[in-house]
Amino acid sequence: MPAPLKGTIRVPSDKSLSHRVVLFAAMAEGASQVEGLLDSLDVRSSLKAIEALGAEVSLHAEQSGLAGTITGWAQGDRGTGDRGTVHLSQEPLDKGAVPLPREPLVIDCGNSGTTARLLLGVLAGYPRKVILEGDASLSKRPMQRVNKPLSLMGAVIAPPDQRCVSCGQALDTLPLIVCGKEQLRAIDYTSPEASAQVKSAVLLAGLHAEGTTSVTEPYKSRDHTELLLPAFGAAVEVDGLTVRIQGGQHLRAAGCAVPGDPSSAAFLLVAAALIPGSEVTCTEVLLNPTRTGFLAVMQRMGATLSLSATAHSGLGAEQVGSVTCSYSSTLTATTIEAQEIPTLIDEIPILALLAAAASGTTVFRQVGELRVKESDRLAAIIEGLDTLGCRAYADGDDLFVVGSATLPERKVLPQDGRTKDAHPLLQTRGDHRLAMTWAIAARALDLDLEIQGIESAAVSYPNFLEDLKGLS
Ligand code: S3P
Repeated sequence: MPAPLKGTIRVPSDKSLSHRVVLFAAMAEGASQVEGLLDSLDVRSSLKAIEALGAEVSLHAEQSGLAGTITGWAQGDRGTGDRGTVHLSQEPLDKGAVPLPREPLVIDCGNSGTTARLLLGVLAGYPRKVILEGDASLSKRPMQRVNKPLSLMGAVIAPPDQRCVSCGQALDTLPLIVCGKEQLRAIDYTSPEASAQVKSAVLLAGLHAEGTTSVTEPYKSRDHTELLLPAFGAAVEVDGLTVRIQGGQHLRAAGCAVPGDPSSAAFLLVAAALIPGSEVTCTEVLLNPTRTGFLAVMQRMGATLSLSATAHSGLGAEQVGSVTCSYSSTLTATTIEAQEIPTLIDEIPILALLAAAASGTTVFRQVGELRVKESDRLAAIIEGLDTLGCRAYADGDDLFVVGSATLPERKVLPQDGRTKDAHPLLQTRGDHRLAMTWAIAARALDLDLEIQGIESAAVSYPNFLEDLKGLS
């Protein structure tokens, strides 16, 4: 029988907001005072990138995250590299042609898709030549969704339209050369994906365009960029699924305190719902409705959840509050429709584990996007649940999890959690959210499993295992 999880915890700060604070502060004039910035591998990728581009970063570790100042490069010389440690190429760019870099600045985005895609939007408006690269996982993820609108705006991103001679596939992955232009064209862009990264990249480029740029998405994705830009002095207009930004606005330094990450809280809250006798409270969590779809789904499934009255965090009108979850003996399946998916896209692995313990079949509609996350999460969820003795399958882009009213008995797994070839049974594929999902599965099944690649949790939640232990 697993020991219950009990206690109150302030999970690490929100990753999406931390990236935006870092990038907007770097683009702004003056020194932004930041507090509670997530100290994780992904956010460090954004911090290293802005430093390389000429921003000054002076941060120290505090209980709630990194605190200190970020001074933007937009002071006078606007990123000529004079103030930073890196000297950027000052060659004029060939209009239209894809310029060959002579001394390009190389920025390693690590595992972070948000760093890469938002940075593409930032760099689109700067007349300099930069190569963006990433780790093996990020180098497989599609960038064309961002390159396409940015190219329409006049940025040169190579290789944007080249095709592989053998397979004919668009070459839309990192490494990419970005040659921004001081003055971009405004566009009205209809994005085929409900993606906050695409929306944000276009809006950030739109700051450097002549006229008004708009982005329309099929469903509402997280709206942190729209909420945070006004705090840095840039007006944004939201009209249903369309967001507009007027070019020529300059960002000014702001004060920012980042609340806890609901995506990190989700692991602990689901663990509490699954383990008899548990009760976990996550305090100071970001409760933006474009991020809390997983709480609505947990509630529909019968999880015992309570939310404190939310308050505005002061960070771009974001809402913050506490969430408590306790064990629920009866969980039932639900259907999550396509328009709800963007509000819980990062929580699908852990929700799938919850669904495995519910009665009935839970359906996640239109989740093909999971194939191009930090790993192929669709395949990984099915494989991992199968290893745990649960059934899940995909039909087209829909994911089905056949619940068995409780998680299976630990006897379905060998005692040492290894295959006969001595490989750990649960594979993380180097994906932080899978690592934490399987750690919660092991905890709920009371299994002392070695999870291969558990260290990838550090991408978003460096002390995850310690915090999980602390709640025991
Ligand atoms: C993010 C947006 C989402 C999410 C990712 C973070 C962001 O990606 O999955 O973890 O901070 O904008 P998409 O925009 O590709 O949906």
